[in-house]
Amino acid sequence: LTDITTLLLSRIRDVADYPEPGVMFKDITPLLADPAAFTALTDALAEIAGGTGATKIVGLEARGFILGAPVAVRAGVGFIPVRKAGKLPGATLSQAYDLEYGSAEIEVHAEDLTAGDRVLVIDDVLATGGTAEASLQLIRRAGAEVAGLAVLMELGFLGGRARLEPSLAGAPLESLLTI
Ligand code: PRP
Ligand code: MG
Repeated sequence: LTDITTLLLSRIRDVADYPEPGVMFKDITPLLADPAAFTALTDALAEIAGGTGATKIVGLEARGFILGAPVAVRAGVGFIPVRKAGKLPGATLSQAYDLEYGSAEIEVHAEDLTAGDRVLVIDDVLATGGTAEASLQLIRRAGAEVAGLAVLMELGFLGGRARLEPSLAGAPLESLLTI
């Protein structure tokens, strides 16, 4: 393991049976509270942003906001929030997606993404890939280009990477940790 991998792993807390029995929740609040770890994470993601030539960062509500906003500042590009439905006041594009039980919907301000933008999506966790997939569809529907997807951790056993292959269409999926 590299130094940064060890540092990040040491600041993620496993919480058994949350939010429901049988689920091991990955709590990133210790990482956020440690300035050395949060800075190292931000720097690593900003380097990925630079490598993809991203002109905008999309963060996925809510934990993708916490990680993505400082990356946008560090990389010197704009930050665009993709929000859960009903939170944005302007004209939006919406994308529904299926959850294990029921469905969810995310939205972006239509004017925030346009042709010519190269967009890097940032989130904390890639699990089934449903949330990320919906965000990539939103970006494409807005006419912008997908520069890639970057996450702190990927839950490899849930198969999100394979699910995202069609919507990434060759754009990179970077995960700092695979669990
Ligand atoms: C969590 C996590 C990712 C998503 C991953 O968000 O932060 O955004 O689930 O799951 P998926 O790959 O199966 O779509 P959640 O909406 O649960 O909570 P948050 O608002 O705290 O980010
Ligand atoms: Mg989330």
